[in-house]
Amino acid sequence: MRKTSPKGKTILDYRTVAVAAAQQAGKIIMDAYRTDFRVDFKQGAPMNLVTEIDRRSEHAIVEVLGAAFPDHRILAEEGGESPRRDSPFRWLVDPLDGTVNFAHGFPAFCVSIGLEVEGRIVLGVVYDPLHRELFEAEVGKGAFLNGERLCVSGTATIDKALLVTGFSYDQEGRRGNLMHFTRFALRTQGLRRMGSAALDLCYVAAGRVDGFWELKLCPWDVAAGSLIVTEAGGRVTDFKGHPFSVDGRETLASNGRVHQEMVEVLGER
Ligand code: IPD
Ligand code: CA
Ligand code: CA
Repeated sequence: MRKTSPKGKTILDYRTVAVAAAQQAGKIIMDAYRTDFRVDFKQGAPMNLVTEIDRRSEHAIVEVLGAAFPDHRILAEEGGESPRRDSPFRWLVDPLDGTVNFAHGFPAFCVSIGLEVEGRIVLGVVYDPLHRELFEAEVGKGAFLNGERLCVSGTATIDKALLVTGFSYDQEGRRGNLMHFTRFALRTQGLRRMGSAALDLCYVAAGRVDGFWELKLCPWDVAAGSLIVTEAGGRVTDFKGHPFSVDGRETLASNGRVHQEMVEVLGER
C-alpha cells in the first residue's frame, strides 16, 4: 500500500517503513544482547543508563526513516529533535525501551516507533526482538500482535486485576509513585514492574495485564503504545481521566472497565 502526503507526493507506506526500521534495530539489539557493550550514565546519574546499543539502534532507525521520509520531523530519545520544524509529520522513536533491563540481561525490552500527524498519533509499532513479538496499530484499523488482532481484557474490577507500573529516573517521579504503588498493591491481585513502558502498554492491549500507570514518561515511551491500547479497545488518559497527551506527565492505560477505579485510587490523598 502507498499513501499520499498532504503535498500530493507519493510516499512509501509509513507502517511498512516503521516495521522495517524496528526490525533492523531489533537485530542490532539481539546481536548485542548479553555481550559486553559500553554503558554510560546520562547527566552523570547512575540510575539513568544509556548503552552504545541504544545509540546504534537509534542511528539505524533514523537512517531508515530519514531516507524514506526526508521531510518528516524525528524526535528520537538519544538524538533529540531534528531541525526540520515545518512538517506536520513527527516520528517519536525510542530505540531501546527497557535499557536497564537490557544492560542487566533481563529479558524485557523493545523498540518503539510512533508517528504523529498534526498532533495526533496515527501509527504505532513496538517490536520485542527477544520474543519476536511485533505489536502494531494504525488509527481506526485495530491493533495486532504478529498479525493477530488484539483485544484488551474483560476484567471488571481492580480486586480481580493484574496491574503494571514503572518508576521514572528522577527521584521526584519515583517518590511520587510509591504511594500509588502501595495502594494498588493492597487492592489488586498483583502488581508488576516490568521496566519497559512501551511493552507495559502493549501488554494492556494484549490483555496480559488489565491496567498500567506511570508518571513522567516521555513522548517516545508512550506514542506507539498508547495507540496500540486504544486500537485494542482500551482507554488511555491522564490520572484524572482527562484526555491523554504524549507530552503530558501522567499515563493511565487500561482495559476501560477498571479505568474509573484506577482514577479514584490515583486521586486519593
Ligand atoms: C524507561 C522504561 C521504564 C520506565 C522509565 C522509562 P528507557 O525507558 O520505559 O519502564 O519506567 O520511566 O524511562 O530509558 O529504558 O528507554
Ligand atoms: Ca523509554
Ligand atoms: Ca530508551
